[in-house]
Amino acid sequence: QSFFKPIQGASPQSPTSQITKITVVGVGNVGMAIAQTILTQGIADEIALVDVNVDKLRGEMLDLQHAAAFLPRTKISASVDYSNTTGSDLVIVTAGARQITGESRLNLLQRNLALFSKVIPPLAAKSPDTIFLIVSNPVDVLTYVAWKLSGFPSNRVMGSGTNLDSSRFRFLIADHLDLNAQDVQAYIVGEHGDSSVALWSSISVGGVPILSFLERQQIAYEKQTLEKIHKKVVESAYEVISLKGYTSWAIGYSVASLARTILRDQRSIHPVSVLAKGFHGIDGGEPFLSLPAQLGRNGVLGVTNVNLTEEEATQLRVSARTILKVQAQLGI
Ligand code: NAI
Ligand code: LAC
Repeated sequence: QSFFKPIQGASPQSPTSQITKITVVGVGNVGMAIAQTILTQGIADEIALVDVNVDKLRGEMLDLQHAAAFLPRTKISASVDYSNTTGSDLVIVTAGARQITGESRLNLLQRNLALFSKVIPPLAAKSPDTIFLIVSNPVDVLTYVAWKLSGFPSNRVMGSGTNLDSSRFRFLIADHLDLNAQDVQAYIVGEHGDSSVALWSSISVGGVPILSFLERQQIAYEKQTLEKIHKKVVESAYEVISLKGYTSWAIGYSVASLARTILRDQRSIHPVSVLAKGFHGIDGGEPFLSLPAQLGRNGVLGVTNVNLTEEEATQLRVSARTILKVQAQLGI
């Protein structure tokens, strides 16, 4: 005797083609902030967790499952051997070493490169049609590594990039001008790191370009005020890491917003790490760095033709060279 009297022709089994499945690799601070936000926002029907730390992995799975009464129904699984990741629509990779106080993201490369060579191939084999969303640092170079190791077309491999930096940027501008950050259109592009580039010339508030907005509001500003805001963005992660040991909540919301845009085919524009070859005069090599890109169910759909000032374009090419210099050491 079941709880329900069956309706003629209704099958309890959902068609698998309509199941949205996300794999999160790495159940540390960042992976769990991402998983928890995805769960809360009801973005996926299934979340597959992967980690090498067996107890932590099982503990995190159980702890999330125990919240089921307060959340949209979502199947949560865990495995060390990727067996639960098969057929994922999106694979988010957060596994790896993180910076200690004062350490740069690029410093993590060797440790996380070795990890990627073990992690990416089995994930790609179990989900050959998936989209990779890389978060582990140095995220731009590791996104390039994931692209090379997976053999996927570049539209299906992206990094969270400066989506997080741009959120910090929008917060600081909104705070400075007593506005809502959601009304501030602003992009940081380039490396998710020390050589990122603030696109001042394309920032708008309520549809008004920021520079003329400030003039109209008679808000006294000088260039260095704006530069100070960008400098605070670059220093943000170092400050938070020195205070709490890592960053997690902002990247959690940042990556969940990318997951929703991709899986719900929102075709929104986000600054994410993409194969930048051929854009804005970036011609040598195959650097992945952040540009404002339209995202949807097929991953990166296109890169916006944002107008850059000569200074912004020069800074972007410097950022690309920084990344290419590191990529050249990889030998892949
Ligand atoms: P964490 O140390 O809390 O978690 C890392 C997890 O990776 C651990 O649970 C560990 O067991 C797991 N792991 C290690 N090797 C693995 C393997 N071979 N397979 C599966 N899992 C493995 O570190 P946290 O704070 O979560 O940071 C993770 C990464 O995310 C770091 O590289 C950090 O720099 C990066 N990050 C990137 C951000 C971005 O904006 N792109 C923002 C914040 C962090
Ligand atoms: C950040 C570092 C950890 O939070 O990538 O930006």
